[in-house]
Amino acid sequence: MILREGKVQFVMPSEDSYKDSSVEVFYNPHMAVNRDFTVLMLKAYSILKAKKLNIADPMCASGIRVLRLLEETDIIEKAYLNDIKQSAIKVAKENLKAYKNVEYFNEDANIFLYKNKNFDYIDIDPFGSPVGFLESAISSLKTGGLIGITATDTASISGAYPFKAIRRYGSKPLDVEFYHEVALRILIKYAIQEAFKLDYVLIPVFSFSYRHFLRAFFIKEKGVSKAIPINNQIGYIGYCHSCKFREKYTCLLDIPKYCPICGEFFDYGGPLYLGPLYDIKFLDIMLKEGLSYIQKDSIWLLKTIKEESNVTSPWFYKGNIFGKGNIPKLKDILIHLKATKTHFSKEGFKTDLDFNTIKEFFR
Ligand SMILES: C[S@@+](CC[C@H](N)C(=O)[O-])C[C@H]1O[C@@H](n2cnc3c(N)ncnc32)[C@H](O)[C@@H]1O
Ligand SMILES: [Zn+2]
Repeated sequence: MILREGKVQFVMPSEDSYKDSSVEVFYNPHMAVNRDFTVLMLKAYSILKAKKLNIADPMCASGIRVLRLLEETDIIEKAYLNDIKQSAIKVAKENLKAYKNVEYFNEDANIFLYKNKNFDYIDIDPFGSPVGFLESAISSLKTGGLIGITATDTASISGAYPFKAIRRYGSKPLDVEFYHEVALRILIKYAIQEAFKLDYVLIPVFSFSYRHFLRAFFIKEKGVSKAIPINNQIGYIGYCHSCKFREKYTCLLDIPKYCPICGEFFDYGGPLYLGPLYDIKFLDIMLKEGLSYIQKDSIWLLKTIKEESNVTSPWFYKGNIFGKGNIPKLKDILIHLKATKTHFSKEGFKTDLDFNTIKEFFR
């Protein structure tokens, strides 16, 4: 059967290709947005570095991601595709048969990544959590290289299963209105710590949450001067479920037991990354190069992210958290609270105004 995505056509052996992870060759059309951003980010990275790229797709499935990069850009020097399933590699070879600058492997992703090194870009797109592949991917990436990580175990880091998040990511999630952002920031913190372990630094350059997945891109660097500012951005968010007050903390011991505003129990999430999610250089190039044929949702994400990139608070608000009365329209909230929309939620807004001003507006 023939499918289309972006500018490409490709073959898939069966129709139920995204039923679950047991299928022989996996393809999820909802991940077109994820792949749009691989194309956009790699274009931006290639422009910033002024060079063509050696890239690795260690969990390539049908090969659609690399096929799109090869057809939609001219920035690929060589692509290395790997999948643990032989059937996936067979289909990827068929889909990419027009290209000579592609090499195929059929191994566990970790073995592939430890054996093959110095990639300019590595894409980690497993079923569920990426945690088991980060150490090998960070080792395998060139210093100065770009890595893109997908996590689809969003429920585990979003507050629904706090003990699972603590076990898997070493962080306590928060069951709050901005849980998507907490989850993304926990994933980013985890990746940063994996790099610290290996004496490298991962600098977050672009990330987002969409439907069931989280996506984060980092540049790999080395050196204490790069590590300190990133380490300083790892901390906690304290949150009052009663009055909705929230605050950033660097140290767990500094978080009060009771809400400083209303005196109720004060919850917390973390450790998580509290710093900027976006490098403006990447954002501006992506917006300029913005491809006309990418998914409508990708364009919406990109434009909304550009707006919210000016806000530094590591959370967003929803109007309905402040009581059940008449909630002001989002457009009025944006004007009165110097706020922006947020890609995390269509009903959400972001602002750096202080909590009391926000609360007063809703009163
Ligand atoms: C979510 S799919 C990847 C989808 C693909 N990147 C895309 O954009 O369509 C995950 C893939 O990882 C493969 N896989 C699972 N465990 C693996 C492992 N340990 N090493 C290598 N590949 C693995 C699966 O066979 C599957 O093809
Ligand atoms: Zn309170």
